Amino acid sequence: MNSSIPIYYHPKILHTYVLLPQRTHMEKRILQLKDEVLLQHPYLIVLAVILSFIIMDPLQLSPVGGHDFRPVKNDIASYQKVMESWPRDNRSRLGLGNLEFKDEIFGPESLEFDIWGRGPYAGLADGRIVRWIGEDAGWETFALVTSNWTEKLCSKGVDSTTHKQWKVESRCGRPLGLRFDRKSGDLYIADSYYGLLVVGPEGGLATPLATHVDGKPILFANDLDIHDNGSIFFTDTSKKYNRVDHFFIMLEGEATGRLLRYDPPTRTTHVVLEGLAFPNGVQLSKDQSFLLFTETTNCRIIKYFLEGSDKGTIEIIADLPGFPDNIRLNEKGQFWVAIDCCRTKAQEFLIHNPWFRSIYFRLPIPMSYLARLVGMRMYSMVSLLSDNGDILEVLEDKKGVVMKLVSEVKEANGKLWIGTVAHNHIATLPYPLQVH
Ligand SMILES: *[C@@H]1O[C@H](CO)[C@@H](O)[C@H](O)[C@H]1NC(C)=O
Ligand SMILES: *[C@@H]1O[C@H](CO)[C@@H](O)[C@H](O)[C@H]1NC(C)=O
Ligand SMILES: *[C@@H]1O[C@H](CO)[C@@H](O)[C@H](O)[C@H]1NC(C)=O
Repeated sequence: MNSSIPIYYHPKILHTYVLLPQRTHMEKRILQLKDEVLLQHPYLIVLAVILSFIIMDPLQLSPVGGHDFRPVKNDIASYQKVMESWPRDNRSRLGLGNLEFKDEIFGPESLEFDIWGRGPYAGLADGRIVRWIGEDAGWETFALVTSNWTEKLCSKGVDSTTHKQWKVESRCGRPLGLRFDRKSGDLYIADSYYGLLVVGPEGGLATPLATHVDGKPILFANDLDIHDNGSIFFTDTSKKYNRVDHFFIMLEGEATGRLLRYDPPTRTTHVVLEGLAFPNGVQLSKDQSFLLFTETTNCRIIKYFLEGSDKGTIEIIADLPGFPDNIRLNEKGQFWVAIDCCRTKAQEFLIHNPWFRSIYFRLPIPMSYLARLVGMRMYSMVSLLSDNGDILEVLEDKKGVVMKLVSEVKEANGKLWIGTVAHNHIATLPYPLQVH
C-alpha cells in the first residue's frame, strides 16, 4: 500500500466499499473513517463512484480490460543520468538507410546468413522462416515451426503485422530468434509459441527441442545463442503473458522472465536465471567467457559470466535511453543493440509508481492516447557497445524515416541489416558509414 494515496482513493478500499456485503472489523473501521470524510466532502462520493467504476472496469473498456493487471515497481537507472551521459546522433544518420524488400517481407524480427553466406533468412509475423534466393526468385519459404501452419489460416501478407494476425498467431507461430550452428549448418529457432526448435540446412518442418521447463510450458521464447559446446542459451520473456500481450509485461513491470539453457547431450532444459523483467535478446561473447542479454522493461544490458572467478554472477553493463531488443556480435567481438527510443520522464514516474499505473491504464481510453499523453514517442536508435558497455557508436533516426520499431542489427557483408517486428521491410545501411 502506498501511504501517499489518500484513503478515499485507494483501489482496495473502494473495492471493498462497492463489492463486499460481509465486512471484517477492520474494514468496518475503515468504512467509518471513510464515511466521515465523505460526509464532509459530498463530491468525493461522486469521485469515488467514478473511480471505482474505472478501477474495476466491469465493461472491460480500458486497455488492460480482461487481464489480471497488477503493476509492480521496478528498479531502473535514473532517467536524467542516462539521458545526460548518452551521446546523441545529431545528424540522425540512421535515417540515411535504405528500405529494402518493401511489402515483400512481414515483420522480419531476426535476420541470419547461413554458413555458405546465403541469405538473409528472416522470421516473419506470418509464422514462416523465409530466405532470399536472389533477384529472380525472390523470397522462398524455408522452414515452418508447426504442422498447424496453413497458407489459408496464416498468410495475411502485409496484414500479418497488424491485429488481424493476432488471433491466429499462437497457431501459426512467431519465430523471433534465428541462429545457424556454424558447424552443422542447422538453423536454431526461438519461437514465441513453439519454444526452441531446430531445422536442417535444407529447411522444412522444424523439430521442437524445448517446449517445457520444470514441467511447465515455455510461454514466450524470444531469442537464443549457441555455445561452442553445443548448449543453447535462450530467453523466455514471461511466465504470465505471451507475445501478443507483450505490452502488458512492460506496463505491469512484472519480472517472471528467465534465461534458459538447453543441453543437447541430455536433451534437457535448465533455468539459468529467473526473475528477469522482459529478457529479450541474447548474445555470447566471442571468447564464450560471458553472454549479454537485454532486459527490455528496465532498459538495460546484463552480462552473465560463464567462466572465471565471477562465473555464475551478473553485472549490469549498460543503462540505455530506450527499450532494447535483440543484440548481435560483429566480427570484432563488439555488440550491436537495437533500441526503441526513448525513455521519458513520465515513463520513469510510471515505473516507480505502480499505483498510478493501476489507475491510469484502467481509464477507458485507447492505449495509443494514454501512451501519447505520458509523452511516449517512438523512434529508433542502434548502438554499438564494447564488452564492458562502452558506447562505440550511436545511430539514430529521429524522424522515424527508416523505421519506428527496430528489433535487430546484424553487421554482415559491409552493411547493417536492421530487422523490425512491426513493419514490412528490412532496412540496410552501408557500414562503416561513408558520411561526411
Ligand atoms: C547535439 O545536440 C545537443 C543539443 O541539441 C548538443 O548539446 C550536443 O553538443 C550536440 N552534439 C554534437 C556531437 O554535435
Ligand atoms: C497446434 O496448435 C494448437 C493450439 O495452439 C497447439 O496446442 C498444438 O500443440 C499445435 N500442434 C502442433 C503440432 O504444433
Ligand atoms: C557448455 O558450457 C556452458 C557454459 O560454461 C555450460 O553451462 C554448459 O553446461 C556446457 N554444456 C555442455 C553440454 O557441456
